[in-house]
Amino acid sequence: MAEPIQVSEEEYSRLSDFLYRRTGMVFNETKRYYVERRLTDRMAVTGASSFASYFARLRSDANGEIEQFINAFTVNETYFYREDDQLRCLTSDLLAERTARRRSGAVRIWSVPCATGEEPYSIAMWLLETWPQVDAFEIEIIGSDIDTRVLQAAEAGVFGRRALMRLPPELIEKYFERLDEDSWRIIEDLRGSVRFTPANLIEASETRPHGQFDVIFCRNVLIYFDEASRRQAAENLYENLAPGGFICLGHSESMSRISPLFEVRRFADAIVYQRPKEGGRG
Ligand SMILES: C[S@@+](CC[C@H](N)C(=O)[O-])C[C@H]1O[C@@H](n2cnc3c(N)ncnc32)[C@H](O)[C@@H]1O
Repeated sequence: MAEPIQVSEEEYSRLSDFLYRRTGMVFNETKRYYVERRLTDRMAVTGASSFASYFARLRSDANGEIEQFINAFTVNETYFYREDDQLRCLTSDLLAERTARRRSGAVRIWSVPCATGEEPYSIAMWLLETWPQVDAFEIEIIGSDIDTRVLQAAEAGVFGRRALMRLPPELIEKYFERLDEDSWRIIEDLRGSVRFTPANLIEASETRPHGQFDVIFCRNVLIYFDEASRRQAAENLYENLAPGGFICLGHSESMSRISPLFEVRRFADAIVYQRPKEGGRG
């Protein structure tokens, strides 16, 4: 692999500022190698011979370069049944509470960001396996991400060994077909149970059209944001929750430090955050 291009401090800050304003993600000087590596790849693909010519191309969005640039910088680490205590909480507490006063109708769940789809497919599998009322409700599961490349992979539904490492073998047997030694495709039925859409968490114009949800999983993205973009994302997601709806964050993330809009709910399996019900406590 060729050595990455080295940019000046000023160039670095122009690039990371451009990325921050579009994604909310902060790439400070400690991420210099990561940033220069990806910049080098984009320069090679676009045939740019200098930082200046690449940056001009990026700013003018030549051939949709902004989308490709963002795709190159996201960190898409994920796997099936990640932080599964929240899946347990989903069925034992959250959905029980959301459906306590109705026997049918829609249940809407949003996995944002979903990366390559392991999270929303895990939710679908978990509901099929553990929620007795699964057939009584019209369950809508949407997976969204800013990265359009991972959304394509999510739709294709082909996964490697690492993605499946936490899944019990009987679930792999039941919900996947083996393609070769190292890859498995999720079965058609399950693929059809999740819809994938692009969404940028810090842009209300992209989150708002998704409507309101009973439960949102927003895990392991706020760690890449600074305080201002965390707050922006939290305010956007608040609007995407039905009154009384719940939001689950990653283990190392806490809404209490970000926004006072939500109430903290401590269940046996997980701490989650709730949009207060209209006219009173959650
Ligand atoms: C580490 S993955 C988390 C995936 C999954 N939620 C999980 O916990 O396994 C982080 C994802 O956040 C996405 N992302 C980064 N900034 C975003 C933004 N502003 N809006 C939506 N998604 C974003 C990235 O593309 C990446 O796929």
